[in-house]
Amino acid sequence: MSVEGPIDLVQQVRAHLESLQAAGVLLVPRGGPIAVPQLRLVPAPPPDAPARPVAAAAPVPPADPLESRRRDLDVLRAEVAACDRCSELFSTRTQAVFGSGALDPDVAFVGEAPGSAEDAQGEPFVGKGGDVLGRMIGACGFTRAGVYLFNAIKCRPPKNRTPTSAECINCRDFFRRQFELVKPKHVVALGPFVSRLLSGKNATLAELRGTVHQYRGVPLICTHHPDDIEKDKTGRLKRETGFDLKLLLSTLGREAPGAGAK
Ligand code: URA
Repeated sequence: MSVEGPIDLVQQVRAHLESLQAAGVLLVPRGGPIAVPQLRLVPAPPPDAPARPVAAAAPVPPADPLESRRRDLDVLRAEVAACDRCSELFSTRTQAVFGSGALDPDVAFVGEAPGSAEDAQGEPFVGKGGDVLGRMIGACGFTRAGVYLFNAIKCRPPKNRTPTSAECINCRDFFRRQFELVKPKHVVALGPFVSRLLSGKNATLAELRGTVHQYRGVPLICTHHPDDIEKDKTGRLKRETGFDLKLLLSTLGREAPGAGAK
């Protein structure tokens, strides 16, 4: 470039900008020296030429809030699957058991922790207790797929021992986030352990049953654990569970299926 006066530089810049404008460039970034690129004029395509493919658009976040919650749940599921906070459970589990069912369900049923069948299959309540729970769900007029099933603790404690308080604390954030994403309208705590955990009350199951408690602003009903109902040969726990489910249904503003039938 020849060394010329400032006027000449202004003229050069103006000429350059005009040539950019003629080539269809409407905006030039501010700041920094203006590089003078070698412009190559591309001839306009003939009118009947096929349209050039448009570059793929960047992924747009889903407009559907339900779909977005589903995605967030998948992310949370992956986090749970990789969790190694409880070294004993991490080293003895086959896999973490996340939960299954519908979003925005009328009811979510919450168990304690996976048993051996759940640990093997990766699904909640697929063992013997799962059959009892399936009958409880059916007695309320729901299907398994229409409610949500999950556990307070995501990994099986060895020999189905009660989870330790450290394990409860380690899993608490997962459970809360899952609960917020599933958004159940009512919650049923299964057994004394989860009933105490969710109600926040240090009481016996007998004391907690029969009252509508709250978990994070959602009505909470406490009842027997399906495994205990299955083992009880007297039929008392089954009868009491029937009362608890009636309380659930009246809280939901629904009648038990067949309640009106003679
Ligand atoms: N017991 C539970 O509490 N949860 C399960 O998923 C299975 C058995």
